[in-house]
Amino acid sequence: MIKEELKQKISDRAARVGVVGLGYVGLPLATEFARQGLRATGFEVDQKKADAINRGESYIADVESSQLSDLVGRELLRATTDFSELAGCDAIIICVPTPLRKTKEPDISYILAAAEEIKKSLRRGQLVILESTTYPGTTDEVLLPMFESAGLKLDEDFLLAFSPERVDPGNPQFRTDNIPKVVGGSTDDSTEIAAHLYAQIVGSVHAVSSARVAEAAKLLENTFRAVNIGMANEMARLCYALGIDTWEVIRAAATKPFGFMAFYPGPGIGGHCIPLDPHYLSWKARQHGFDSRFIGLAEEVNSGMPEHVVRLVWDGLNDDRKSLKGARVLLLGVAYKKDINDVRESPALSIIDRLRAKGAEVSYHDPFIPEVRFDDAHTESTGEPLQSVELTDDELRQADCIVIVTDHSGVDYARVCQLGKLIVDTRNALAGELRRDARARVIRL
Ligand SMILES: NC(=O)c1ccc[n+]([C@@H]2O[C@H](COP(=O)([O-])OP(=O)(O)OC[C@H]3O[C@@H](n4cnc5c(N)ncnc54)[C@H](O)[C@@H]3O)[C@@H](O)[C@H]2O)c1
Repeated sequence: MIKEELKQKISDRAARVGVVGLGYVGLPLATEFARQGLRATGFEVDQKKADAINRGESYIADVESSQLSDLVGRELLRATTDFSELAGCDAIIICVPTPLRKTKEPDISYILAAAEEIKKSLRRGQLVILESTTYPGTTDEVLLPMFESAGLKLDEDFLLAFSPERVDPGNPQFRTDNIPKVVGGSTDDSTEIAAHLYAQIVGSVHAVSSARVAEAAKLLENTFRAVNIGMANEMARLCYALGIDTWEVIRAAATKPFGFMAFYPGPGIGGHCIPLDPHYLSWKARQHGFDSRFIGLAEEVNSGMPEHVVRLVWDGLNDDRKSLKGARVLLLGVAYKKDINDVRESPALSIIDRLRAKGAEVSYHDPFIPEVRFDDAHTESTGEPLQSVELTDDELRQADCIVIVTDHSGVDYARVCQLGKLIVDTRNALAGELRRDARARVIRL
């Protein structure tokens, strides 16, 4: 039974783990296996990333270079672009991107490319796990037939499972090792062995009855966030129209000890997960003649937030008898959330785009992002790239409007309040005290 063989190998720390795709998800995961004494090999298409890892240099903030170089030095971790080495792995975990096409339909081409490589060297005794977020059915309907067409049989020759990733980049409290892992296999044996593998690196593993359930659970988690953030954003727009402080309303509601969970408004949603994942679910729903209306509504409200932020800037300048055309607008933060270096789907890009389209002179400061480009499908425009400016006194004084888009911790907000003229705060970064002493006029979302 390959189940028993693999189980023993994993328990003995003799199993070799392959991680395909070494990004925000794959690199911390491979590092965690290596830390627990299971030899891990990362498979990358990007030679530069593979080389950096083999030099012990991390490009992901949540993984320390010192830790990486220690693991590489002890031959517990290495990276390669040679996919023929997959044959030497006992467990293979796929962590490649799952973006959307321009039509907002799932693009699983990266999963297919990774699976094609795995299929070439699939051999008896291997466990394959998909971690990339995807629609329910991908593991059983897409991967399983591909692997079986290599002439191997599920359970007899290989095992197959889905286990969603829940990593929260930049969150020091929850890391790969202390976030419970959901696991669902294509068969019971697959679930059992995949759960056994993850039990080596995480404290809690929750097994479910199928890969489909695990795939759907991940989409529920992220759709839940998208819908609730949409609700908070709608509330913010309503409060703005009514002249009520949204943040105070949420703080008050959050004192209820049951039946309420606080979600906060912002300039829009970003990152590789929350804006994308619900579309994987609604696409699958449509195939079954089902219209997932909550998802559509949340998308409509959330994607309207950058325009609302521009409206706040516009209103603020108008009160100063200034036009948006020719105004100097300085954005604080362009990353999609605080203290991380990721601009994928960041609402900041859409805000910059809209401000520039209205003739504003836009600059930005972000300690984590030295440059933003507009030619990589983030936005409609193909505008000139922008480089982060230093946050000098002059820069703050000369801005007609400062927009806090990301509330990075390292920024001196007291100085921003003292030197700025007009501030649009989309994150409630300026606590009451700061606002009271501010020379600047502050407009909050
Ligand atoms: N970033 C997050 O916070 C997060 C959280 C939970 C789940 N996820 C999901 O995890 C998956 C990966 O996301 P990510 O943020 O790590 O993406 P990423 O872009 O940071 O990393 C993916 C890596 O895969 C590599 N790659 C692409 N095609 C490949 C191939 N055929 N073979 C080998 N390597 C390949 C890329 O070069 C890149 O380094 C996605 O499905 C995402 O939705 C991400």
